Amino acid sequence: KRISIVGVPMDLGQSRRGVDMGPSAMRYADVVERLEKLGYEIHDTGDIEINRIDKEEIQNLKFLKAVTDGNDRLSQAVDKVIESGAFPLVLGGDHSIAIGTLAGVSKHYKNLGVIWYDAHGDLNTAETSPSGNIHGMPLAVSLGIGHHTLTNIAGYSPKVKPENIVMIGIRSLDEGEKELIRQKGIKVYTMHEIDRLGMATVIEETVEYLKSRTDGVHLSLDMDGLDPTDAPGVGTPVLGGISYRESHLAMEILAESEIITSAEFVEVNPILDERNKTAIAAVSLMGSLLGEKLL
Ligand code: ARG
Ligand code: MN
Ligand code: MN
Ligand code: MN
Repeated sequence: KRISIVGVPMDLGQSRRGVDMGPSAMRYADVVERLEKLGYEIHDTGDIEINRIDKEEIQNLKFLKAVTDGNDRLSQAVDKVIESGAFPLVLGGDHSIAIGTLAGVSKHYKNLGVIWYDAHGDLNTAETSPSGNIHGMPLAVSLGIGHHTLTNIAGYSPKVKPENIVMIGIRSLDEGEKELIRQKGIKVYTMHEIDRLGMATVIEETVEYLKSRTDGVHLSLDMDGLDPTDAPGVGTPVLGGISYRESHLAMEILAESEIITSAEFVEVNPILDERNKTAIAAVSLMGSLLGEKLL
């Protein structure tokens, strides 16, 4: 039982500075100590280098080069972790880092599943994005849709098939994203379904769905999937989100299912946070995901 932690101090995928301090905030919230208590051997590999001098913006893709380079390094780091036989736990950083994580993970699976736990779809392209922020694009990029420097990280594309994705917590989609979801037939549990069915059913159905068709499942958890009252330290908060308790239940059911083979926790921004509340919540969810029990 080994876990390798990879920090990614990336804040160039969006426009509110401070999310580069997310990995530190989660370390201060005792991520290593918490997981060690569960009996894991933890290797903290430190942070991926992010080069923030390049201020270029091309075709509605802000900081394309810096985001590409950072994700390229991240994909190699994650690849190495998996080759070493450890479980990769990636700490963000904004959600653009899912591009690199998935590039490193997916080559090790024939049919990688992805759980996208988020208020947003992150299915934009330069053409559909209202902001030009790359953190709104990583799921599209991983499907092979987007700028070629991003889709070709690690030298192959796509990283994930649309039928192997389940999106959970969704409540803010741009028009182009809605179209892509319909066109690709991606499975989505919006807040509406979570309210109607309850989180237990949503996650049980998700596990059932992914178990039969995938040989590994990556959890990409954007802390803005949670309600801003429980996770205020995020750059793009959206009201009406998943509660802290529902999120714990989700992680506990995922732990029981034993389907998760890699995970990332992103968008923790300590500058916008209240006494590190969001980082503490993230670390607590990691505990449950990795087997922590109340009794
Ligand atoms: N849909 C908006 C955009 O593309 C917001 C994206 C927010 N993404 C995130 N990872 N928090 O700009
Ligand atoms: Mn490899
Ligand atoms: Mn989001
Ligand atoms: Mn996101």
